[in-house]
Amino acid sequence: MPLSAERTRSPHVVLRALALLRPERLKAGSLLGAGALVAFLQVAEPLLFGKAVNGLTTGANPMRYVALWCAISVTVFAAGVVIALLADRMTHRRRLIAMSTYVEHLLALPPAFHTQARSGRLMRIMISGCEGLFNLWLPLLRDQITNLGILILLLPIAIMTNWRLGLVLVVLMLVYSVVNLIVMRHTATGQARVEDRFTDISGNLGDLFGNVTVLQSFLAVPGEMGNVRRSLHDLLHAQYPVLNWWAVSAVLTRGASSIAIVSVFGFGAALIERGLATIGDVVSFVGFATLMIARLETVTGFIVNVAQRLPALRQFFDVLDQQSHITEADDAVPLAVAEGRVTFDNVSFRYPTGSGAVHDLDFEVAPGETVAIVGPTGSGKSTALGLFQRAWDPEKGRILVDGQDISGVTLASLRAATGVVFQEAGLFNRSIAENIAMGNPDATMEQIEDAARIAGAWDFIMRKPDGFATAVGDRGAGLSGGERQRIAIARALLKNAPILLLDEATSALDVATEARLQESLERLRQGRTTFVIAHRLSTVRAADRIVVLDQGRIVEQGGFDELLAAGGAFAKLAQDGGLSTPAANDDAGARAAA
Ligand SMILES: Nc1ncnc2c1ncn2[C@@H]1O[C@H](COP(=O)(O)OP(=O)(O)OP(=O)(O)O)[C@@H](O)[C@H]1O
Ligand SMILES: [Mg+2]
Repeated sequence: MPLSAERTRSPHVVLRALALLRPERLKAGSLLGAGALVAFLQVAEPLLFGKAVNGLTTGANPMRYVALWCAISVTVFAAGVVIALLADRMTHRRRLIAMSTYVEHLLALPPAFHTQARSGRLMRIMISGCEGLFNLWLPLLRDQITNLGILILLLPIAIMTNWRLGLVLVVLMLVYSVVNLIVMRHTATGQARVEDRFTDISGNLGDLFGNVTVLQSFLAVPGEMGNVRRSLHDLLHAQYPVLNWWAVSAVLTRGASSIAIVSVFGFGAALIERGLATIGDVVSFVGFATLMIARLETVTGFIVNVAQRLPALRQFFDVLDQQSHITEADDAVPLAVAEGRVTFDNVSFRYPTGSGAVHDLDFEVAPGETVAIVGPTGSGKSTALGLFQRAWDPEKGRILVDGQDISGVTLASLRAATGVVFQEAGLFNRSIAENIAMGNPDATMEQIEDAARIAGAWDFIMRKPDGFATAVGDRGAGLSGGERQRIAIARALLKNAPILLLDEATSALDVATEARLQESLERLRQGRTTFVIAHRLSTVRAADRIVVLDQGRIVEQGGFDELLAAGGAFAKLAQDGGLSTPAANDDAGARAAA
């Protein structure tokens, strides 16, 4: 899945990464300034060395230069320590801030994004993106500015010292830069391809880890492992050409310093013979050449490293650029639920993929009323409730709560007003108490226990060795399906919201447990507007009204007995077992089946 149609250009990616330091621009600026100063001092060192040697050969006193040289060395050393310390702290801090920005952004994106994005992939993009930022910021602030400064200052100073020898350095630097530019051009696209593959593999691995039991029971492990190995093998082959170019660059770099020193010595000796250079000049220039090549090496290493991480950074920013299509209006106001009247006003919606839709949903739920939404599987029941929670926005029509269009209210207020039990319980790998407390983080332990009692979860929680402190495993894997549902119900109860959405909240419970829970839910529904999606007649019968969906359209609505008597879609659904009739003493079910 391409995260964005248009890919950002490399210089923009780097600028954007640097812009993330903006909140600490004063500190970052000071570090860069200090780096530049150190550069200036370091270039002076070979110059002083040359002057000291000239002093020795002409019999003048070289101590002045040696003392100055010493002072500079101490300053450079001390400045280096301070810069490193500050730069380290700052980049560690900014990296964690970038991470939390990314997480916050992802957690705010709507289900429309998350149903397509793979969590393993998003995780990998976060980790390598933050590493990329760190590896750009830290070397830049710590020493690359100094190195760049040295390279910029070195040539003019060298040329002023002796322009003939200076030209040798200019030629060397040009050749070096051109070779490395060529390498970089050849590796950029290759590395982007590698990064894309890596991210895809991570997405796939996340999927595998989340479904280990399925893989095992379907004997799919060898097959999937074969796929994983193949992808990793392909990845390696995509990496090889890039590595070839890097090897060329590494060898040339290593050879460069010998070539430089030999050239300066050879050319310098010829110049001395003609009286066009002093011994001190040649000494200075050997220093210049060594300094230049060493700095070119680290600067190139840095640039190659950043270039290598650019694709990861680009992916990171692409995720940050994902816009939520579910947006709050600029003038959004908090939803004020006075009574809890919900109106679906001619609502139509189609999933972007084209599969699945609801058409012209038009009904009203009176305050405190319980409406059951029934219909065959895939008829759009969950979709209708998803629209109410603004997981998606309707293409046509409006949904109103007490006359307020939900697209015009703040998302937080809409969410605060609804207690939801999803079709999938959605538990976190934390304790039972923590899972329930998600309904209301301020709840006392007593309130949590009450909610568990009403949700019929008390008995099984007490049977757990650690009670409420029992950890439930990934997505609640350590619990039975019915136990998970009851915890999800307790969580929704604790939220105490005026509107309740129950999507097959009791589907995994046995009939006796469900019947007990019905009484509690009955009490709970008092004074709350409730939507219930259910496949069981007993649950549906408790509703004040029933809305029957088929292929995304309302085909019938009315009271339970009224609909059964009408002999329409609902009666047929009940009869065909589309609404299950598990209880022998469920006389309505018996009537329907008769
Ligand atoms: N995220 C999605 N993207 C695309 N299509 C979807 C998505 N979610 C659901 N659908 C499709 O929309 C249709 C309605 O789905 P929905 O989940 O609303 O059915 P449902 O009535 O709740 O069914 P069930 O009783 O099985 O839960 C189905 O055809 C389904 O395949
Ligand atoms: Mg559903």
